[in-house]
Amino acid sequence: METAKKKIILKEDEFLKEKELAKEDILIDVKHLKKYFNVGKGAVLKAVDDVSFQIKRGETLGLVGESGCGKTTCGRTVMGLYNSTGGNIFFDGTDINKFNKQEKKEFTKKAQIIFQDPYASLNPRMTVGDIIGEGIDIHGIYKGHDRLMRINKLLSLVGLNKEHASRFPHEFSGGQRQRIGIARALAIEPDFIVCDEPISALDVSIQAQVVNLLIKLQKELKLTYLFIAHDLAMVKHISDRVGVMYLGTMVEMADSQALYDNPIHPYTQALLSAIPVPDIDIARTKKRIPLEGEVPSPINPKPGCRFAGRCKYCKDICKKETPEFKDRGGNHFVACHMF
Ligand SMILES: Nc1ncnc2c1ncn2[C@@H]1O[C@H](COP(=O)(O)OP(=O)(O)OP(=O)(O)O)[C@@H](O)[C@H]1O
Ligand SMILES: [Mg+2]
Repeated sequence: METAKKKIILKEDEFLKEKELAKEDILIDVKHLKKYFNVGKGAVLKAVDDVSFQIKRGETLGLVGESGCGKTTCGRTVMGLYNSTGGNIFFDGTDINKFNKQEKKEFTKKAQIIFQDPYASLNPRMTVGDIIGEGIDIHGIYKGHDRLMRINKLLSLVGLNKEHASRFPHEFSGGQRQRIGIARALAIEPDFIVCDEPISALDVSIQAQVVNLLIKLQKELKLTYLFIAHDLAMVKHISDRVGVMYLGTMVEMADSQALYDNPIHPYTQALLSAIPVPDIDIARTKKRIPLEGEVPSPINPKPGCRFAGRCKYCKDICKKETPEFKDRGGNHFVACHMF
């Protein structure tokens, strides 16, 4: 009797240990990432400037911020599509810049991207089957009948059917084309997908369908997402955590609910206050915080906080010192001198 009880306790311990390990299972670990572009005459465009974040396996990190703040550059650099200017990107514990040839090849399979524009990103002269099969062919994973079966399976996974394989992209609607883009990204069984505004170009009525498909696939295939978006309501729906970028820097990051309930950085507060609310009574009482001025240029940026010039709380220190990106408790990170 006593031993049986002990066994149960041991099992429970093991279970908790496993859960703890799973919690710590970090797939993407980005440390002080920088991506600068030389834009001539000695000018440097700091598209991503000292950004750090982690994404756990199976988790979705949303990335939001105004146009040009560096979301796409960040996603592409993390995938190894751009060489970083500084910092480190660890994938499953290994620095991607230290991969050997074989590891590099594996990484190109494990990290995939879904693009914003499903019209421009699919080759109009290729059949859907060949578009989806391209990665399978490059990596020589399936051949002949197996290849065909794999393509059919991918089509059904994204809500299309096998008859679609012989058709061309122009024969599909925007939502269907994005499904083809998703099938292509899934073809070689990735672990990590950068979803770069995958729904921005789609009709509002089908945006939710595509997002729900991505959520379903994540559960089924244990995928990890970096989900870049403009639509703050949608990004909350899909993300476990959300990071807010401003002019190449990360200004705030927290669990989705915490970020939306309690935004701390003045920029996040302004961004969130601009989300339309469906309830007219709440909408009437909701105060919109105006965001004045344009996003300044990321070329040779001034020292200090990048948001200083548009911030109503700005003090001297904000123009001189870059605020540290610090945990304010409960993994709620903020970079601000004033809050
Ligand atoms: N290849 C490049 N060469 C030079 N500058 C670039 C390059 N790619 C991006 N940039 C610049 O880097 C900055 C960040 O661009 P990025 O495309 O990452 O922004 P974004 O947040 O994805 O914007 P959007 O929401 O419009 O897609 C911009 O100022 C952009 O002009
Ligand atoms: Mg972009």
